[in-house]
Amino acid sequence: STQLSVGQLAELMKRNSSEIIKFLFMLGNMSTINTTLSDEDIELICMNFNVTPHKEIIIDEDDIEEQISNRVFDEKDLVSRPPVVTIMGHVDHGKTTLLDTIRNSHVTSGEFGGITQHIGAYQVSVSGKKVTFLDTPGHEAFTAMRARGAQITDIVVLIVAADDGVMPQTKESIDHARAAGVPIVVAVNKIDKAGANPERVMSELANEGVMPEEWGGDNIFVEISARNGQGVDDLLESILLVAEMQELKANPKTLASGTVVEAKLDKGRGPVATLLIQQGTLKAADSLVVGSAYGRIRKMTNDRGQELKTAGPSMPVEIIGLNEVPQAGDVFMVYDSYKKAAEIAQSRENKKIERERNATSARSLEDMARMI
Ligand code: GTP
Ligand code: MG
Repeated sequence: STQLSVGQLAELMKRNSSEIIKFLFMLGNMSTINTTLSDEDIELICMNFNVTPHKEIIIDEDDIEEQISNRVFDEKDLVSRPPVVTIMGHVDHGKTTLLDTIRNSHVTSGEFGGITQHIGAYQVSVSGKKVTFLDTPGHEAFTAMRARGAQITDIVVLIVAADDGVMPQTKESIDHARAAGVPIVVAVNKIDKAGANPERVMSELANEGVMPEEWGGDNIFVEISARNGQGVDDLLESILLVAEMQELKANPKTLASGTVVEAKLDKGRGPVATLLIQQGTLKAADSLVVGSAYGRIRKMTNDRGQELKTAGPSMPVEIIGLNEVPQAGDVFMVYDSYKKAAEIAQSRENKKIERERNATSARSLEDMARMI
C-alpha cells in the first residue's frame, strides 16, 4: 500500500485537505490531515474530485507522485455531460409508470432493438439533449450506493400522488436527496384523478421545507399524469433547466470509471452488469476492476440492446465479461491492461480475506475476554 496521508494526497491533487476531510466525513469516516488513507478511500476521493484513477497508484510506490498527477484533470478536458436523474417517492405514487411513460415516448418507434426487458438505467433525448434515468429498485439501493460513497445522481425527481399527499417514504426521499446534496424537482402526479389535490401536496411539501418557486422557494413543481402523459414534457424541460444550472462536466478523454447500477448472473452469458460511466470513455474490449471482480469486456450494449464500440460520460451500458457478479454501488475502473486489472483484483481479494481473518481473530479475543 502507498501509506499516503490525507495531507499528502491533497497536495498531489492540488486541493485543500479540508475538502478531503469533509468528503470522508460525509462517508462517515473521521480523519485528520495525518490520517493514512486506504486504497479504497483514495479511489473514492479521486472519483469525487474528478481525478482520473486510471493508473494504479497503489502498486509502485516510487513514482506515486508522478502517477497521481497524471490523473489530475486539466480543466480544458472537461466537457458537459447529461444529467443523471433518479425518481423517488412513496409506494404506488407512480415511479414505475413515469419511468415507462418517459421511456416509451422518447424512443423512436421502429428503432432497432426497441424497448425490450427491464434495465436499471436508460437514456432519452429531450429537445436534442440527453437525460439519463436510473431505475433504482428502491430506497435500499440508493442507501447502499451512498454508503459506498458512490454519488451518482445529479437530480432527484420527487413524485407525490396528488390524491394521497406526503407520506413516510416521501419524507425519506427528501432526506436522501438532502444528504446527497442533490436538487429536488417535484412531480405532482395523478392529477387526472377525481380526488387530486395539488394545492395540498404543495403545502405539505412546504412544511417539509420543499418550497415551490411560486411561493418563493427553490423547487420546481410540475403537475403531471404519469399515466396519460400530461405534463411529462414540462417535467423533462424542468429537469434540463436544473441540469443546466449545475454545469455538469466530465472528462471523456480518459480511461473510464463509474458505478455499478445493477448486476446479475445470467445462465447463458455469465455475470451481467449495468454500469453508469461517470468519467472517461468505455471501450468495447477494455479491462476493468469492479470491487474484487475483474475481466475484459466481451460485449457492451446500450439500454436498447444495441452493441456499442464506445460509451462516454453519463451513459448507462450493459457489459458481459466479468469473472463474478459485482454489487450495485460498486465502483468500476478501467486499467490499461488485462494483466494490471487482474493484479489489482487479486490484491483486493487478498486484502478482503485478510480483513475477514482479522475480524475473526478479534471476535475470538472478545470471546476469550468474556470467558475470563
Ligand atoms: P412501487 O414501485 O410499488 O413503489 O410503486 P410505483 O411508485 O412504481 O407506482 P406505479 O407506477 O406502480 O403506480 C401505482 C399505481 O398507480 C398503478 O396502478 C398505476 O397505474 C397508477 N398510476 C400511476 N400514475 C398514475 C396517474 O398519473 N394517474 C392515475 N390515475 N393512476 C396512476
Ligand atoms: Mg415501481
